[in-house]
Amino acid sequence: MTEPSQTEVHQIAAAPARTASYEADPAEVRRVLLLYSGGLDTSVMLKWIQDEYGAEVVCLTVNLGQPGEDYAAVRDKALKLGAVDCHVVDAREEFARDFLAPAIKANALYGGGYPLFTALGRPLIAKLAVDYARQAGCDTIAHGCTGKGNDQVRIETTIATLGPELKVIAPVRSWQMGREEEIAYAREHGIPVKGGTESAPYSIDDNLWGRSSEGRWIEDLTHAPEDDVFQLVTRPEQAPDEPELVTLEFERGVPVALDGTRLGLVELLERVGALGAKHGVGIVDHIEDRIVGLKVRDIYEVPAAAIVLPAHQELEHLVGTIHQNQFKTGLDQKWGYLVYAGLWWEPLRSDLDAYMEAVNAQVTGTIGLKLYRGSARVVTRESPNAVYDATLASFAESGGLFSQTASPGFIELWSLQSRMAHQLRRRDEDA
Ligand code: ARG
Repeated sequence: MTEPSQTEVHQIAAAPARTASYEADPAEVRRVLLLYSGGLDTSVMLKWIQDEYGAEVVCLTVNLGQPGEDYAAVRDKALKLGAVDCHVVDAREEFARDFLAPAIKANALYGGGYPLFTALGRPLIAKLAVDYARQAGCDTIAHGCTGKGNDQVRIETTIATLGPELKVIAPVRSWQMGREEEIAYAREHGIPVKGGTESAPYSIDDNLWGRSSEGRWIEDLTHAPEDDVFQLVTRPEQAPDEPELVTLEFERGVPVALDGTRLGLVELLERVGALGAKHGVGIVDHIEDRIVGLKVRDIYEVPAAAIVLPAHQELEHLVGTIHQNQFKTGLDQKWGYLVYAGLWWEPLRSDLDAYMEAVNAQVTGTIGLKLYRGSARVVTRESPNAVYDATLASFAESGGLFSQTASPGFIELWSLQSRMAHQLRRRDEDA
C-alpha cells in the first residue's frame, strides 16, 4: 500500500543533505534511540524510522513532571508501534535538584517573563538520551524538534557535547510532512490520532516548572488569549475571591518548606504550583527573541515559578549588600541567556554557578506572599542574615553603627563631583 503522499515522503527523505558532522548518514543508521513523547510527531517518527532506515528503535520517555501524563499508556503505544523497548525515566528529582535549584538561585527569567522551564529540561532530556543510547547500543538519537525552534539547538548541542560518537536525526525537520500528511501517514500505519484533522492543537511543552502553548491564533499578535489555552492556571476572573497567604522557607537559596511543612523540592514545587494555579497566578503572554533569529509569541502558565522566583529574589535582596545586589542582576541575566540559548554545558555557566552558590549561602529565611486573583505579592520577610536593622535609625540604639548627625558630612562629599560639574555647565551657559 503505497499512497502517493508516502512515496513523496520517501523521496524527500532518501537523500537528506547533511550539514553538520553529527548528522547521521542514512546508510549507517542501525539502531536509534528515539526521544518519544507519545504525541503525533514522535509516533509517526517511530514508524517512519523503522520503514525508512530499516533500523531498530528504542524509545525513551522522560518524566519531568508533565501534569496528567499517563506514562504506562505512552510505553504501550511505543511497543505497539514496533519499538524494541521503551524506557520511561522519572527524572523529576534530578531536574529539580540539578536544574531548577540553580535556576532559582540565579533568578532565571528570560526576556523578563519566561522562567525557562523548557530550556532547563532539554539538556537533561538529551543527557539521558546519550546515557540510554549508549546503554542500548544505539548509534543514533532521534528527536521530534522542527527546524524553527530553540529546542533543536538545546538537544543537539547537548548530544554533540556529551556523546560525540553518536549521530542525530531530526525527521520532522527534514521530512517536510505537513500536519495533514502526518495524519494520513498515521492512519495508514495504524497510529492512533486524537482529535480531527481540522482542529490542529496548540504546540504544548510542559514540566514541573511550567507550561507553554504556541501556534494557532497565538501567532497573531493582535489576538488576545482565548480561554481554552489555559489548561493549568485558573483564569484570574474565575479565581477565588478570598486571598490566600502562603509562606516559603528557603535554605541557602533553595525552598525547603511551604507553610511550615518541610518538603522535598519536587513535591514543594508541585504544591506551590497547585496553589498558584488555583489563584490565577503565573499567566505570561510573551514575545521572545529565539536563538534562531525568529521572534515567537508564547502563552506561558508558570504558577510555581511566579511564586518561588519573586520570593527568592526578595530574600536575596534582603541578605545581600547593595553592591552584591546590583552586580548579581547582570550575572543572573547572563545565566538565563546561556540556558535559553542551549549552552547549558558551557563552562561560563558553571563559573557563574560558583558565584550564585557564594551569594546564596546567605539566602536563608522565610517569605510570605499573598495570592489573589492573578497576583502573588510579597507581604512578609524574615531572615537571620538580613542586612537590616530597624534600630539603626538611632545612634544610641544602634550601638554606634550609624549616626544621623554624620549625614550632612556624607552628603557634602557624596555630591561633590555632581555639584562641581553642574557649576561648570552653568558657567558655559552664562558665557
Ligand atoms: N519558547 C520557549 C523556548 O524556546 C518554549 C518552547 C516550547 N517548546 C515546544 N516544543 N513547544 O524555550
